[in-house]
Amino acid sequence: MKIDSICCIGAGYVGGPTMAVIAQKCPNIKVTVVDLNEARIAAWNDADFDKLPVYEPGLADVVKEARGRNLFFSTDVDKAIDEAQMIFISVNTPTKTYGAGKGMAADLKYIELCARQIARIAKSDKIVVEKSTLPVRTAEAIKSILDNTGNGVNFQILSNPEFLAEGTAVQDLHNPDRVLIGGNDAEAIQSLVDVYGNWVPKERILTTNVWSSELSKLTANAFLAQRVSSINAISELCEKTEADVSEVAKAIGMDSRIGSKFLKASVGFGGSCFQKDILNLVYIAKSYGLHEVADYWEQVVIMNDHQKHRFAKNIVRTLYNTVSGKKIAMLGWAFKKDTNDTRESAAINVAQDLLNEEAKVAVYDPKVEPAQIQFDLGEQFEGVTIENNPYETCKNAHAVAILTEWDEFVTYDWQKIYDGMLKPAFVFDGRNILDKQKMKAIGFIYNAVGSSN
Ligand code: NAD
Ligand code: UGA
Repeated sequence: MKIDSICCIGAGYVGGPTMAVIAQKCPNIKVTVVDLNEARIAAWNDADFDKLPVYEPGLADVVKEARGRNLFFSTDVDKAIDEAQMIFISVNTPTKTYGAGKGMAADLKYIELCARQIARIAKSDKIVVEKSTLPVRTAEAIKSILDNTGNGVNFQILSNPEFLAEGTAVQDLHNPDRVLIGGNDAEAIQSLVDVYGNWVPKERILTTNVWSSELSKLTANAFLAQRVSSINAISELCEKTEADVSEVAKAIGMDSRIGSKFLKASVGFGGSCFQKDILNLVYIAKSYGLHEVADYWEQVVIMNDHQKHRFAKNIVRTLYNTVSGKKIAMLGWAFKKDTNDTRESAAINVAQDLLNEEAKVAVYDPKVEPAQIQFDLGEQFEGVTIENNPYETCKNAHAVAILTEWDEFVTYDWQKIYDGMLKPAFVFDGRNILDKQKMKAIGFIYNAVGSSN
């Protein structure tokens, strides 16, 4: 089937950018992205491209090029399903917060709702593509719902997990390491291969069976997160032994079998997916009785929790064992640079720990809205101030903590920040982005992750 109309259910961090790029690269395919969230769809349609709901470098230009030509954002889900030959499901699959598997398993209720809606509306054959990250064998459940509640039309299910990282989404979509398509039906697979073939070289489009594709996505995130936890585990040892984690990372990364990426020690990984996907993997392993497999992967999350809390504890210990009533300036709230996404950001845990110790927390982030910070902290937000200027944020602070590796933090006038702070002035660099020697020369007591002072 040659595809000329696509619908994507879910206009979030994956659905929005992914479909914008498909529309940009395939001008002959009509791409409609739908969502129940009216405010989100309105923002995708906003005349002011600075107001798109997802901040990603380069995204506004892609949307500018395609929107209104062959890219549309709408809340009319039924109509978009009816008109499309191929339907991507890009809805959220968060960790369950209730019932069996609470705190571990993926909550598939949004996926099931989509499947039922597609079954109800579809009056012609459809290819349904799993774009969301899903537990292995979910395609089976989707197929069962579609076939049992549908109108007798033919459904093919493909798995096409997304590997983009936030902050580099457009770059990743334009030039992916690989596109993975899992399926059982050669014709359906070919239809999707042809869509990506408009800009992705053939040798980077990998086809597998559905289950391998579903499981590869969870596995990829587990491996990436595991690298971060591994280097973070070593960072604690470095702090005790006068080894320097950046030097260790460089030394091991030069071994081509290990490779240099994803070896930056940090305050801990965040983002909506690493923890959720590992917990999901752990849950699946447990459900098959594979307890050693489950424990092995769970340790990646346990180590990450330890790293986040350790960072806050270190601040308290270094500030003479009390931060009560002291102003601590936090630079960065997003879970990584170049995104406005704060889901599972380490900054949230660190702020919570400091607020529990009665610190006065001041936050500055170049892209995160104050309302989001308020949402993330709930009632604890009472103890927080937000400035729109980093120098004000740091003024009269006992300590500055760097939580996100935004490039602009490196370029600040750190002498000016030092002059405005209480003395001794402490810096806790949770991303190792500042120059230790320069900071010390200014007079800061500088603490990095994974090296001794
Ligand atoms: P998101 O929360 O940003 O977006 C999901 C959207 O789906 C929301 O806007 C929600 O309103 C909408 N939605 C939910 N149910 C709906 C329904 N029945 N009908 C219409 N709209 C509905 O989530 P996201 O970050 O885009 O992630 C989506 C999926 O992609 C998840 O499974 C995630 O694991 C996976 N993923 C995310 C990333 C990432 O970088 N964020 C990367 C790769 C994969
Ligand atoms: C990650 C994966 O990289 C994507 O391939 C995947 O598609 C996505 O999850 C997903 O499924 O959602 P993302 O979470 O957007 O992407 O960003 P990453 O660059 O992976 O960073 C995740 C976290 O790890 C961030 O908090 C980052 O600061 C931290 N990190 C990363 C480190 O602390 N050290 C590193 O060396 C690398």
